Amino acid sequence: VTIRRGDYAPPAYLVDEVALEFRLDPAATLVRARLALRRNPAAAPDAPLRLDGEGLQLVEARLDGAVLPPDRCRIGEDGALTLLDPPAAGVLETLVRIAPESNTALSGLYTSGGNYYTQCEAEGFRRITFFPDRPDVMSRYEVTITADRTLCPVLLSNGNPAGSGLGDGNTHWARWVDPHPKPSYLFALVAGDLVNVADRFTTRSGREVALNIWVRRGDEDRCGHAMDSLKRSMAWDEQVFGLEYDLDVFNIAAVSDFNMGAMENKGLNVFNTKYVLASPESATDGDWQGIETVVAHEYFHNWTGNRVTCRDWFQLSLKEGLTVFRDQEFSADMGSRAVKRIRDVRGLRAAQFPEDAGPMAHPVRPDSYIEIDNFYTPTVYQKGAEVVRLIHTRIGPAAFRRGMDLYIARNDNQAVTIEDFVAAMQEASGIDLSAFMGWYDQAGTPELAAEDRYDPEARRYTLTLRQSTPPTPGQPAKRPLPIPVAMGLLGPDGAALPTRLAGENAAQSGTRTLLLEAAEQSFTFEDVPAPPVPSLLRSFSAPVRLQGVPREQLRFLAVHDSDPFVRWESGQQYAASVMLEMVAAAQRGEAPGFDPALAEAVANTLAAAEADPAFAAEALSLPGEGFLADQMAVADPVAIHRVRQGLRAEIGRRCGPALRAAYGSLAETGPYRIDGRSIGRRALRNACLGYLVAAGDAALAKAQFDAATNMTDSLAALSLLADAATPAREEALAAFHARWRGDALVLDKWFSIQAMADRPDAIEAMRQLYAHPDFDLRNPNRARALIGAFAAGNPAHFHAESGEGYRFLADAVIALDPINGSIAARLIGPLGQWRRQAPSRGALMRRELQRVLDTPNLSKGTFEKASKALL
Ligand code: ARG
Ligand code: ZN
Repeated sequence: VTIRRGDYAPPAYLVDEVALEFRLDPAATLVRARLALRRNPAAAPDAPLRLDGEGLQLVEARLDGAVLPPDRCRIGEDGALTLLDPPAAGVLETLVRIAPESNTALSGLYTSGGNYYTQCEAEGFRRITFFPDRPDVMSRYEVTITADRTLCPVLLSNGNPAGSGLGDGNTHWARWVDPHPKPSYLFALVAGDLVNVADRFTTRSGREVALNIWVRRGDEDRCGHAMDSLKRSMAWDEQVFGLEYDLDVFNIAAVSDFNMGAMENKGLNVFNTKYVLASPESATDGDWQGIETVVAHEYFHNWTGNRVTCRDWFQLSLKEGLTVFRDQEFSADMGSRAVKRIRDVRGLRAAQFPEDAGPMAHPVRPDSYIEIDNFYTPTVYQKGAEVVRLIHTRIGPAAFRRGMDLYIARNDNQAVTIEDFVAAMQEASGIDLSAFMGWYDQAGTPELAAEDRYDPEARRYTLTLRQSTPPTPGQPAKRPLPIPVAMGLLGPDGAALPTRLAGENAAQSGTRTLLLEAAEQSFTFEDVPAPPVPSLLRSFSAPVRLQGVPREQLRFLAVHDSDPFVRWESGQQYAASVMLEMVAAAQRGEAPGFDPALAEAVANTLAAAEADPAFAAEALSLPGEGFLADQMAVADPVAIHRVRQGLRAEIGRRCGPALRAAYGSLAETGPYRIDGRSIGRRALRNACLGYLVAAGDAALAKAQFDAATNMTDSLAALSLLADAATPAREEALAAFHARWRGDALVLDKWFSIQAMADRPDAIEAMRQLYAHPDFDLRNPNRARALIGAFAAGNPAHFHAESGEGYRFLADAVIALDPINGSIAARLIGPLGQWRRQAPSRGALMRRELQRVLDTPNLSKGTFEKASKALL
């Protein structure tokens, strides 16, 4: 069934109060729900009373205390409960039985390692009790949990604690009251044998908040960074947005079986252990940064998502795009803003641009869906954050802050739409933002091109900008969007030129922002002394593809521009254009030449690396294989991989001495530290190692692996060794497994590294890893670590000519779908990119998609992904 955005209707009934009583048991948990219902004055007066439900065993239903006879209520085929002849208001009480231990979908209430956890976003609450499970029904919750005292000493839910005591037998109970009305997707329950790391935070207005991170025994000493990130997030949201925490407790519970990264349930966030647990020995710098970002993201949802929530799931980006924007700004303030921006853009291009160019392309605010779970996408999250950033750029930080204040004040405790957000920004700024709605409703990545003309007589420079957006499924014709283009002009010596647009009185120095609103628009600059070089899209001011910048300009900008993003970007685009030419040569059977400018750039980067090692590490990394494939009309993953590897080896040979010197001088002295500079130095050193190993020095990787005292260096070395044909490879992998076999998060890395390795027997190795005793298809992290890493991170072998890579993925999806349809639907994604491959590969990919589609009892989500991919 396709759900359409235009079909929105207000809920027939509202639920003001919810009282839930849980009696926990792995096989037969009882859930009693008392709902204070009343007809919604905004709905049709005869609308039926229908409560969502899925897999619930109804024991009893009462209306205002009286047992409902079977002819008054009916459970439909979809599991929902309909009350016939419903009253205008009343208290409906239901008692249902569920089996958390058999809940392998990890949606609703489930067990993991004997403990209980919930995941309700988007539609998991209906797997716990009968309820109008939609975000525009907001209620106050009181939750009482009863469980065995020995097995479940800890009983948690949303809000503030409101009593506890002993029950019958060996049980005890705890009650939680959440004073803030919330939609059902924010409900949470966690219970079990857990221990807490405790801390406290005093808000700006003096509220004392007890902070707790709940983990399994033995993990307590790996929570420090998550706790520190939480406290910094709380302080930052007060300083930057004036937003304070609003309960007496803030709990985070970590669980190793979790479909996503984390979940912002009110007062009780539930996290994938991957985004909580970290120690220097077991977590990489990337993990460390991931924890900081995700902790901040979930905390920031308390206002953007929880206090102000979404009217319906089409508005998902209202909370996700805005909250990603907020966590990006937080991380930028915690470290290097430029490097953070580079990483975010890299991520956007790696995941969102291909989505926008593929069969699942959808607007930031989709028009329809079959399974909402499939729309927690890079488009809704990352592109959604870019659109918020566009508004921020357009109206400026001060007006944006006023807009946020207005948005929150006006919509607090309500379920609202993207229009409400844009309206607040428009009113606060006094700038008409109506055209920006196009960014929410139109899919596809706009292409931007520039053309310029210099008139020496008139000292006049004219810059013409053009935009167009390729068609996407269901949207054949596109209109122009407002594109803020942050820019500057450089003189022939590389110095920044002040700019004065025709009609302006005085010249401006620094970056200025042009607003391209039409398909084509010209901007005339006066008093330009010499033909300038334009620096466009500074800080990546819009999520577009800037095309056709001449190579000489790229080289010039890479060295001279004042904007670090443009310097990095120009180097990347230059390298990409050279590499694409090499791929074309390889496809013609010619030996790809070598452009010495690439080696020069590496030498220059190394010479200047000391000033900002993290930036240097970014500049040193060649464009990724996916980024290159995305720029070809017909991708050639195998040729791309060979060219990139060959180029790395050649650079490693030509720059050997400089790389070796940098590698030596960047060696860590003293204890492991995770400040930005130390992380940058490790990233740079490992980038050097990568080139040296590519040039043949596998022994250096083995030496680093053997000596490493932190996971960043250990894993960097191991991933290089994984490609090497030396006995050291097997030795290192075995040693790593022996040391870490008891640590699930590290073992995930061991699987991923091998899944991404470039080996002649790659597929056979995948099948062996799949059969490995430590592989567990039921654990989402493990499934992603092997299957996801292979399909998305090993293009050369996933796209093997034989089609064996595709077959492996389809086999895994078919096996996983009945266990966890949500993860299966996510993993199938790469098969959808068949249009971008050569016809021979495309046919093999389609065959596997069809095989998945022909599987009986396919989940809604996997069906949607496979069928849309085949259209
Ligand atoms: N709201 C969560 C976050 O942004 C993600 C929850 C996703 N749930 C899902 N079923 N797809 O952190
Ligand atoms: Zn989120």
